[in-house]
Amino acid sequence: MFFPPTRLKRCPYCNENLKKNIYCRAQDEYDGFGENLSPMEYRNICGEELRETERKILENYADGSVFEIGCGQFHRTEQFYLEKNIQFYGIDPLIQIVHGGKYADRTLIGIFPKDFIPENYNYLSLTHFFGGILNGAICKGFQDQFWMGLELLGQNCKSIAFDSLIHFPEVNFDYVKDEQGQIIQAFHTAPPQYFPSEKELQKRFKDHNFQVIETIDDAMPMAHRRIFIIQYQLK
Ligand SMILES: C[S@@+](CC[C@H](N)C(=O)[O-])C[C@H]1O[C@@H](n2cnc3c(N)ncnc32)[C@H](O)[C@@H]1O
Repeated sequence: MFFPPTRLKRCPYCNENLKKNIYCRAQDEYDGFGENLSPMEYRNICGEELRETERKILENYADGSVFEIGCGQFHRTEQFYLEKNIQFYGIDPLIQIVHGGKYADRTLIGIFPKDFIPENYNYLSLTHFFGGILNGAICKGFQDQFWMGLELLGQNCKSIAFDSLIHFPEVNFDYVKDEQGQIIQAFHTAPPQYFPSEKELQKRFKDHNFQVIETIDDAMPMAHRRIFIIQYQLK
C-alpha cells in the first residue's frame, strides 16, 4: 500500500520544522492546550480572584482605558473595572471562552501581536497580561514578534504590566545568573512555557526602549512570581 509522505508541519510563527525545533514544538502544544477547554475548566485553571499584587497595579496604573492581552472572560478583572468606571478591551484567541463570557463585544478574537491593530484604540493608561502570557511565547521567532508588538503598543499606552515566574523550587534555573531562559512545566495543569532569565529580559527592555518603572514580587505556593511595570521611552 502506498502512503503519501506527510507534509512536514511547520511553526506558524517562524516556519521551522516542528519536529526539529523544541521551542516550536512546545509552542504548538501551548497553543493547542486552550482550544478544548470548557469555560469552567478554564476558570478553574486561571482562578477566580484578582491577587492583591494585581489589584495594587490596577489601582496605581489603570485610569480611563485598559487593554488586556489574554483577557479570556475578564472574569478576574471585570469587577474592578466596573467599580472604577474603567473602559476595558482585550484580545484572546479562545473563541469558546470569550463567547461563553459577557464581554465578547469588546474582545478581539486573535493573537497578540499578529491580530492587534493599535490604531483601533484610543490612548490606553495600562495594558496588562497576567497569568503567564509572556511565557506562552515560546518559539524564538514568536518571542521577537511579541516584543516588537509591545514596542508598538507602548507608543499608545502609558504603562505595560506583565508577570513571569522567576524561581521554581525543584528546577535548575537561575533567573539572575543564567544568560537564557528555559522551557519549564511549572504547573501540572498547564503545558510547558518559556521563562526568560533576568539578563534576557533586560536585553528586551533595552532593545525595545522600555524602562522598568516598578517590580512587585508575589510568593506563590509553587513558584516565585515577579510582576514588571514598564513604560516605553521615546527615542
Ligand atoms: C492562563 S490564561 C490567563 C487569563 C487571564 N489573563 C487571567 O489572568 O486570569 C492565559 C490566556 O491568555 C491567552 N493568550 C496567550 N497568549 C496570547 C497571545 N499571544 N495573544 C492573546 N491571547 C493570548 C490564552 O488564550 C488564555 O486565554
